[in-house]
Amino acid sequence: MPTPTQRQKLKAAAKAAAARAYAPYSKFRVGAAVLTGSGKIFSGCNVENASYGLCNCAERTAIFSAVAAGERRIRCVVVYTPTKTATAPCGACRQVINEFGPAARVISFCQGREELDVSLEALLPGAFGPADLA
Ligand code: THU
Repeated sequence: MPTPTQRQKLKAAAKAAAARAYAPYSKFRVGAAVLTGSGKIFSGCNVENASYGLCNCAERTAIFSAVAAGERRIRCVVVYTPTKTATAPCGACRQVINEFGPAARVISFCQGREELDVSLEALLPGAFGPADLA
């Protein structure tokens, strides 16, 4: 669980990232921030493409950025959307979160009052993961 200060920083980073979303097709802006095992925060936005299938979600942008910087553990994922209701990570992102943070906390917030705060395990029960390949 992030501390109240970490939570605040994660939220600010996710919100700032949403402003950088490249979403000319869906117009659905998403920002994400992850807290890593070393206590650092990495953020990301969704990056769409004219070839729609290549769109990358904000969560995966943030996680890949953390991994590219040498991080291997994700403790918390925060998702922000400028919408009335909060947005939970899509299935693909849940699977990617599981790779680096099977015990991660996933928090979604939005412009409205709704806030989701759940474990990754609740979002992806019985997940397939690295241990299955051992
Ligand atoms: N999207 C995210 O970035 N994260 C989510 O959790 C849900 C969906 C993006 C993908 C695409 O750019 C747009 O939102 C519409 O699906």
